[in-house]
Amino acid sequence: MKILKLGIIGAGFIARFQAQAVSQIRNVKITGVYSRTAASAEQFAKLCKELEVGDCRVCQSVAELTQHVDAVAIFSPNFTRVSIVEEIVDTVKKGAHLKGLICEKPLARNLIEARKLLSLIDEIGLPTAYFENQLFMKLIRAQMQQLRPQQEQMGPLLLTRCSEEHGGPHEPWFWDPTQQGGGVLSDMGCHSIAVGWYALTPHDQPLDFLQPVSVSCDCALLKWGAPKWRKQLLDKFGIDYGKIPAEDFTTGIITYKNPVNGRLAKAQFTNSWMFEKQGLRLFMDGMGPGYAFEINTLNSSLQVFVGDAAADAVADSESALEKSTASRGLLSVQHNEADLYGYTDELKEAAAAFLAGQNGFLPWRYGYEITKLVMAAYMADEQKKTIDLTDVQVQTALENYIPLIQQGKGREVLYQ
Ligand SMILES: NC(=O)c1ccc[n+]([C@@H]2O[C@H](COP(=O)([O-])OP(=O)(O)OC[C@H]3O[C@@H](n4cnc5c(N)ncnc54)[C@H](O)[C@@H]3O)[C@@H](O)[C@H]2O)c1
Repeated sequence: MKILKLGIIGAGFIARFQAQAVSQIRNVKITGVYSRTAASAEQFAKLCKELEVGDCRVCQSVAELTQHVDAVAIFSPNFTRVSIVEEIVDTVKKGAHLKGLICEKPLARNLIEARKLLSLIDEIGLPTAYFENQLFMKLIRAQMQQLRPQQEQMGPLLLTRCSEEHGGPHEPWFWDPTQQGGGVLSDMGCHSIAVGWYALTPHDQPLDFLQPVSVSCDCALLKWGAPKWRKQLLDKFGIDYGKIPAEDFTTGIITYKNPVNGRLAKAQFTNSWMFEKQGLRLFMDGMGPGYAFEINTLNSSLQVFVGDAAADAVADSESALEKSTASRGLLSVQHNEADLYGYTDELKEAAAAFLAGQNGFLPWRYGYEITKLVMAAYMADEQKKTIDLTDVQVQTALENYIPLIQQGKGREVLYQ
């Protein structure tokens, strides 16, 4: 079996999660890491050793990393995308041999950056994979497989409702809309928008078969703008939502047109950083004519109970569930989140594609389309109207649009 030597840029939360995923697949080894903070890279290399996922070399630069790997995965913060891809392209032009480039979601903070990334990658013609794990979730794939005969007989799904919610991110840069790209819509709306579109798409059609025709959206700052919670953000992360806020809740509807029969289908997305249950919840459901599916990742067949007296024994509440908010009471435990959320299968697929000289299932151009939908959603919220994606003027406006929230002017839309 051919094995892809993978180099990681950024050694934080998602890098650690992906290392867990690598430990469950056979066609990837992690052979290098480069991170801005040397300590995080050292820790990551240690984790790789513990997990036996490869002899991970700690590199001092992007250029050094590319000498020791077949492919690079960009797992650093959103605001680093363009400069990192510029460095990678530069090293490839100077002779580094790479088989592919992975970028975590979101591809970019806006379409200006997304276009820049696409043009950079075009310069070296390297295969790409955009990492949107939810399209690889076994639960999503299983419902598609299971409901295929019903879909063929009755017609495709008409409505999906997808949400990803938790109590708020773990690092300050996520909360800073100028660095991250916005609030929860930029951070997690991209997941729910992508998986909603995918689940609606008839099983025998390509990813972009359904044409997005309009987007409506409402963004709000429901919890973290209140004085008590603003203070907590300021004390914990140094982020001041009194001055530069971002949305902690968003919901919207994207309407898609089936180009063959002209029929419309709708995908609703809902995302929040103010979710007050045990931890991260992905919820997806879909309605077809006469059939339906529902996924709720908080429904685990494993639950544990920790009473008050024993609560101190659970030192690390994150071990039960991503973004856990409680360490006592009745807790839902997911024993294999890397697999549950689709990380194992997205890595396995990308490695196989790169080893065959091809793009992953989701190339960066797909990430561009998702960025466009996220931008249209911000525009819909700002303008308080449904955005018509078939209007040429709207399409042109989206190309250079930077949401007010991303510009650091969230006060104009979130405090009214
Ligand atoms: N698919 C998912 O469900 C999922 C979950 C979490 C994060 N993500 C995405 O992964 C990316 C990273 O998120 P995270 O939660 O791991 O963040 P994080 O802050 O936990 O880790 C970021 C890492 O990147 C390093 N870094 C920062 N600037 C750098 C630079 N210029 N060059 C090299 N390394 C640099 C930091 O030192 C840190 O090790 C983000 O784009 C985020 O949107 C995806």
